[in-house]
Amino acid sequence: MSPAQNPSHLQAVSLESIANQFGTPVYVYDGEKITNQIKALQHAFSGAPLKIKYATKALSNVNILKLVKKAGAGVDAVSIEEVKIGLIAGFSGGEIMYTPNCVSFAEVQEAVNLGVMINLDNLSVLEEFGQIYGNSVPVCIRLNPSIMAGGNAKISVGHDKSKFGISITQLPEILEVVEKYNMLITGLHIHTGSDIYDAAVFLKGANVVFDVAFQFPNLKFLDFGGGFKVAYKPGDLSTDIENVGQKVTEAFQNFCAKYGRQLELWLEPGKFLVSECGYLIVKVNVVKVTPTITFLGVDSGLNHLIRPMLYDAYHSVYNLSNPIAPKATYDVVGYICETDTLASDRVLPEAKKGDLLVIKNAGAYGFSMASNYNSRLRPAEVLVWEGEAKLIRKREVFEDLVKNQVIMDF
Ligand code: LLP
Repeated sequence: MSPAQNPSHLQAVSLESIANQFGTPVYVYDGEKITNQIKALQHAFSGAPLKIKYATKALSNVNILKLVKKAGAGVDAVSIEEVKIGLIAGFSGGEIMYTPNCVSFAEVQEAVNLGVMINLDNLSVLEEFGQIYGNSVPVCIRLNPSIMAGGNAKISVGHDKSKFGISITQLPEILEVVEKYNMLITGLHIHTGSDIYDAAVFLKGANVVFDVAFQFPNLKFLDFGGGFKVAYKPGDLSTDIENVGQKVTEAFQNFCAKYGRQLELWLEPGKFLVSECGYLIVKVNVVKVTPTITFLGVDSGLNHLIRPMLYDAYHSVYNLSNPIAPKATYDVVGYICETDTLASDRVLPEAKKGDLLVIKNAGAYGFSMASNYNSRLRPAEVLVWEGEAKLIRKREVFEDLVKNQVIMDF
């Protein structure tokens, strides 16, 4: 499916009015879109008892989590801070899946004390956990299924050179630890990567888990992670969620029949729920004509949206102020003192100083990966919900930048 048209309004609220009211740059999220994505997933996986654990890292504003909760999903957290954000949003510990990687054991213990579901991805940590908790705290194991999948190398995490998960080839060692400490393993987990299009990859991952699962008699759920691909540009493919849902739930139900008990099927979508809901509105500061390229220099940059630089990610851009002018070719660049090309070689309606541009697919890993590089301030966040634009994060002010610096008296 191609991305939706270039909207001038979200739920009848004009993006221009949002930019005027809250200033630019500003992240705007369409709450209805998030709810609809959750519904689509619930429908696609209705063949099994599904639990959605929203991958908080994609977009961690408390209000987004509250909305996700309202729509019936839980939370996937990868840090104790994300766990606490989930608790603030009103989730109970039991609704939160905590999947840490390379954190201190003290952090794991803190999470145990908060009552969240712990998902361990390292043999030595599993052993430490067993020594301390024995069978008194149920735990999930993150397996590394040895599958290379994902939109690019940086977001492929299920292969055998990845730091994530306990290799499937270490199953004997896992079983040894589990037996030694009589551990209560209630879940098995995989997450192979992000931007995965092919239904066969999800099925392959699931089959790896099914094969291993018979060795664990106390399972309550299998968690297949996230990674569904969404469309970023016209003509782009996105995961056929109905097809994946149908195939995976069918295989899951067959597995449960053999396992002898109905388990829950867990998913941890990030991008699928929030990528397309988000728009980053920026303003053209300058039009810079050079002998080779015409740059649109905007009041944002890699400090607010790092995906194009980090992953060569393509984000569609459109001219909100001037949608029907004759077209010209531009590089849209930021104001950061580094090459921060947000979009290159784009044909857009002619833009002038002061025009508002909108960068699409900015919901997932947009604000959550933003920084203060170049001592710039992070943008405001606005949620459009039930036909109204609500400020859900204030724009940073200069004092925020310096408030934690301890100024010495030289
Ligand atoms: N579960 C686990 C354990 C994960 O590590 C991730 C993402 C997800 C779920 C959600 O994956 P999603 O459905 O969003 O693909 N910053 C990168 C993506 C990094 C994903 C990290 N883990 C990007 O902007 O493409």
